[in-house]
Amino acid sequence: MKSLILVRSYHHKNTLKVAEVMAQALEADLVDIQESGPGIITNYDIIGFGSGIYWGKFDRDMLALIDKIPSDKNKKVFVFSTGGMGSDKFNEFAKELLSKKEFNVVGSFACKGFDTFGPFKLVGGINKGHPDDEDLNNARDFALRIKKMVQFQVPS
Ligand SMILES: Cc1cc2nc3c(=O)[nH]c(=O)nc-3n(C[C@H](O)[C@H](O)[C@H](O)COP(=O)(O)O)c2cc1C
Repeated sequence: MKSLILVRSYHHKNTLKVAEVMAQALEADLVDIQESGPGIITNYDIIGFGSGIYWGKFDRDMLALIDKIPSDKNKKVFVFSTGGMGSDKFNEFAKELLSKKEFNVVGSFACKGFDTFGPFKLVGGINKGHPDDEDLNNARDFALRIKKMVQFQVPS
């Protein structure tokens, strides 16, 4: 099983920190989408898509990439994000795009990320120190659960 994590993280590299621990847990290749294209997924069985939340959604370049990747119901995918709110409801849009392309969506993870966007800058930002050790442990556990789940699933 070959794993890939695609990430877009430009505000404070919060999502990159999460992506790094997930990549380690899954023994996955970690690639910034700025350095890649839709064809990259071809050689992988498990693919994680991670982004900061910007305007309530994944980064638009990440959404455009998801839109362009070829459908494949044999690939297991998951989504993750960091955000000011740290809510996985902001992962839903990307999750739905992937489901519509018939990918097998096996999980969704979110945690808080340091946020100095807009008015938050005036107060020195919110969620200072996030993702923190607990967030990163949760991210690692999530990735290990995915690994275990996928190992025990018969290919569809
Ligand atoms: C332009 C912009 C828009 C944002 N919009 C949201 C939002 O709609 N909801 C939210 O919870 N956080 C929002 N945030 C906060 C980021 O999601 C948060 O800081 C995240 O951890 C950034 O991830 P990154 O450092 O990986 O880029 C926004 C940040 C920026 C810069």
